[in-house]
Amino acid sequence: MQEIYGDDRIKLYWGDVFDCLNSLPKNVIQAVITSPTYWGKRCFTKDKKEFGSESLEEYVDRNVRLYSSLLNIMKDEGSIFIVIQDTYMGSGVSRSHHNHWENNKDKSYRRNGIDSERQGNTSCVTARHSIIKNKSLCGVPYRIAIKLVDMGFIWRQQIIWEKPNPMPENIEDRVRQSAEYILHFTKKGRYKFNPKMIMIKGKSNGKLRMPNQVWTASPEHRKGHTATFPSKIVEKLLLSVTDAGDTVFEPFLGSGTMMELCIKNQRKFIGCDICKFFVEDCTKKLSKDKKLYKFSS
Ligand SMILES: C[S@@+](CC[C@H](N)C(=O)[O-])C[C@H]1O[C@@H](n2cnc3c(N)ncnc32)[C@H](O)[C@@H]1O
Repeated sequence: MQEIYGDDRIKLYWGDVFDCLNSLPKNVIQAVITSPTYWGKRCFTKDKKEFGSESLEEYVDRNVRLYSSLLNIMKDEGSIFIVIQDTYMGSGVSRSHHNHWENNKDKSYRRNGIDSERQGNTSCVTARHSIIKNKSLCGVPYRIAIKLVDMGFIWRQQIIWEKPNPMPENIEDRVRQSAEYILHFTKKGRYKFNPKMIMIKGKSNGKLRMPNQVWTASPEHRKGHTATFPSKIVEKLLLSVTDAGDTVFEPFLGSGTMMELCIKNQRKFIGCDICKFFVEDCTKKLSKDKKLYKFSS
């Protein structure tokens, strides 16, 4: 793990998030708003420690280990939001049928639980499992959430991020996969929450009320990254669980959506990514855009 950028308000690390954990300050982080690489879908590096290419069971365990460790070192009034999507189990056969899982001798093409090449992977073999059948949802978000609940953390809500323009799918025997899940966890029943930051006016009486559970936003295509989360949604989450001056950690920095929102809203920020290019790109954004980095202390 290597610190690529550091000042008194922002720190950016390159490396596996588990190596980064030891460098995080205790009882300082107020919020973690993040999105891991999804299981069996995209893959951004050839690093074996990147989330998403291990077995389903390992993926769930690594996510649970990460969020539970973070909740344990965060402030008591802290919150974690995890943006995550489910995966359909495949047959282990390539979509292009050039590459059968069983027959492929080249280990680099046999990464467990990998989706098709079209989604950005080096492999073109679909996910396969000894128990979960082809065509079944794996239940990834629920597997993670239930383990965290059973460890004594509090699962406050599951926000549904509905995409009006989801990826086209060639299916006629189920509805389209048009949503991702945002899991909200806390370690205590009392935690920092600024309801006014997300309240909306009720249609019937004009009074402010909490919004419903389904939030709609189009995916954003930010330069250089194909799996960013929607700033419109995550900014609301940020404002609801932090105040100016609070510290936010993003274990899966990516294009730096959360970094930019923290700067805009005067939050301190720590980010980490296993892909050096993404961390360097975020560092460039900091030095290039002086306006972005105008931040009154
Ligand atoms: C879904 S993307 C995050 C995108 C980010 N939220 C944004 O809006 O740009 C997941 C990121 O996690 C990183 N990643 C995957 N495994 C990691 C690991 N073990 N440690 C640190 N980063 C990792 C990937 O390189 C990728 O950039």
